[in-house]
Amino acid sequence: MSEKLFIQYVKRLILLIWVLILCVLGSTVLFVGDALGLISFRVKEPQLMASASNSTASEKRALWLAPDTSSIPNNAQGDMIRYGRELIAHTSKYLGPKGTVRQISNGMNCQNCHLKAGTVPFGNNYARVASSYPKRRNRSGVIEGFEKRVNDCIERSLNGEQLDPDSQEMQAMVAYLKWVGKDVQTGETLPGFGLVELAPLDRPADPVRGETVYDNYCARCHGADGEGELAESGLEWTYPPLYGEHSYNVGAGLYRVSKFASYVKANMPYGVTFENPFLTDEEAWDIAAYVNSKPRPKKDLSADWPDISKKPVDHPFGPYADSFSEEQHKYGPFATIKAAYQ
Ligand code: HEC
Ligand code: HEC
Repeated sequence: MSEKLFIQYVKRLILLIWVLILCVLGSTVLFVGDALGLISFRVKEPQLMASASNSTASEKRALWLAPDTSSIPNNAQGDMIRYGRELIAHTSKYLGPKGTVRQISNGMNCQNCHLKAGTVPFGNNYARVASSYPKRRNRSGVIEGFEKRVNDCIERSLNGEQLDPDSQEMQAMVAYLKWVGKDVQTGETLPGFGLVELAPLDRPADPVRGETVYDNYCARCHGADGEGELAESGLEWTYPPLYGEHSYNVGAGLYRVSKFASYVKANMPYGVTFENPFLTDEEAWDIAAYVNSKPRPKKDLSADWPDISKKPVDHPFGPYADSFSEEQHKYGPFATIKAAYQ
């Protein structure tokens, strides 16, 4: 090898070493910078949902999860919990129009609205129930125990008749509710409890817009007239009704557009989750207005809200402690009503 060639090789070798040193230094800077949050060279995930999933990574870790059913004890108390869960999942088989125990309700299951027996984050779950009842509720103006709260949903959401508080069925449902929420402390709030809260619209929720959205995304399961579809057994709904004679009555929680919108935003069309919703907030509000503008069973509500100043803004029946119309209380906009109370 000539001397010239040798020097050339050495020069190239030195160059290569320099390049390697620079690479190592460069990646160290990027790595440390990224770890410290100074540099970010990952593509940001698109913000899929505005209101429901503003949760940060640390909140996600603390998301409420129901206890595992395999931890239900194998004793008499465990049997009650399991029976309660079964009653909540398949209410109609036991308490519906052809119920094997009593015939006191409209054929829907608690689970139609409290998904997976009330265990789904933002699926109208029972996380908070065990730690917060008995409690004073403004709707009745009295302290309500578990049995009264369950009977509220039976009389309103299931458009039915009260279940004897001492019955095996009521006691089983209460045992289950206490079990599902057993790990939640009084006053604790975790992401995922109950329903998501949606920011109100600055216009009234619109039944006409809602009808189009309903036809596009809901009718294929819930029916063109919200009539739902019965399972082959005739004992439960494959797709529960959204309005009409077999649906919840005007005293039910879902008859308030805010509750309806929150429920569908995080859970419908069936299969979506609060982390991956499908509807925009506007669509959810408008469908709520549409469905709740349709006919459904009535209920005497004259004993509700003994203190009318405690009515929620979207309670659609007067009298009110303000001068806004029933129409505005039903569909909004709600911000102006809220402001009147501040
Ligand atoms: C048509 C829908 C629907 C059905 C069916 C239904 N519920 Fe409810 N339930 C609701 C809504 C809406 C709320 C109010 C949620 C809120 O305000 O956050 C509620 C609230 C409750 C609560 C209080 C939750 C809390 O955190 O304070 C309990 C307990 C409850 N339901 C039990 C039942 C049981 C048991 C059944 C069956 C016997 C049932 N529900 C059937 C819609 C329904
Ligand atoms: C793929 C079928 C499917 C589609 C599409 C669908 N749902 Fe549902 N929906 C269901 C099922 C099934 C349940 C009952 C869940 C259960 O029992 O586990 C349900 C329950 C409900 C409930 C509570 C029970 C009741 O009947 O009041 C509401 C409200 C609801 N859906 C609204 C909607 C709206 C609004 C849309 C359109 C945005 C929609 N759903 C689209 C299947 C569907």
